[in-house]
Amino acid sequence: MTDPDPLGGLLGRWRRLAETGVLLDGFHALKHAVRFGADVTAAVAVDRRAALALADELAPDVRGTLDALLTEVPEAAYAALVPRRHPTAVAALAVRPAREANLRALAREPRTAPVVVLDEPRNLGNAGAVIRLAAGFGATGVVTTGTLDPWHPTVVRGGAGLHFATAVERLSVEELPPGPVFALDPEGEDVRGVKLPDDAVLAFGSERSGLSGALRARADHLLALPMRPQVSSYNLATSVAMTLYHWSAGPHGTA
Ligand SMILES: C[S@@+](CC[C@H](N)C(=O)[O-])C[C@H]1O[C@@H](n2cnc3c(N)ncnc32)[C@H](O)[C@@H]1O
Repeated sequence: MTDPDPLGGLLGRWRRLAETGVLLDGFHALKHAVRFGADVTAAVAVDRRAALALADELAPDVRGTLDALLTEVPEAAYAALVPRRHPTAVAALAVRPAREANLRALAREPRTAPVVVLDEPRNLGNAGAVIRLAAGFGATGVVTTGTLDPWHPTVVRGGAGLHFATAVERLSVEELPPGPVFALDPEGEDVRGVKLPDDAVLAFGSERSGLSGALRARADHLLALPMRPQVSSYNLATSVAMTLYHWSAGPHGTA
């Protein structure tokens, strides 16, 4: 009789963990997740030596952890575990942080860096890019309102494993964390004249229709990014990038 799980139980264990776990697709996602304290429960590579050589070259700080985590699997087994083959042929599963932990991180005071709110975003790639930006700027978290799941596998892929570097959660407008809400809208006041405080809640509208009525009603300030006449708007993720850069370049403190 053929063994239904020739990888000594890994196949079954992976499938069980994958039901609730976060798929880290590729070496860089795994590297980031490890750096930011993710609880990685399984990790595979088609070529373990090549993955560790990549760690030697690009991420010696996590080499030891990857050495302990990575199990080599044949190409066919990797294909059975992971829906698409990442060029590095490395994949892992991590535990999704508890909502309560994210809510605590978002509500912690005094806040030393803004929270980014994506109000009813539609595009999974944009959400991933924003989480990556938030991680890079050390933002407190990224909150989405509406139906998009900010932990959707495509968002996690776009975030390059950096969901673990910031608090990522879906909330309603009523549940937004405390702090002055600065909502970004082309009709607002020029952002260049405004100091963004560290406890700011920076809100951005959806790709299709901009800020919702509920978010507008909650906003304390409406701010515009500089834009030449006849251009209607910027892409959502690039708007977040400019705004976080403006915050980071300004003097720091609360309002
Ligand atoms: C693609 S835009 C939305 C365009 C949408 N058609 C609208 O009516 O606003 C997505 C979001 O990026 C931000 N944004 C884009 N361009 C902006 C600008 N020039 N100033 C401020 N925010 C901007 C806003 O938060 C906007 O809701």
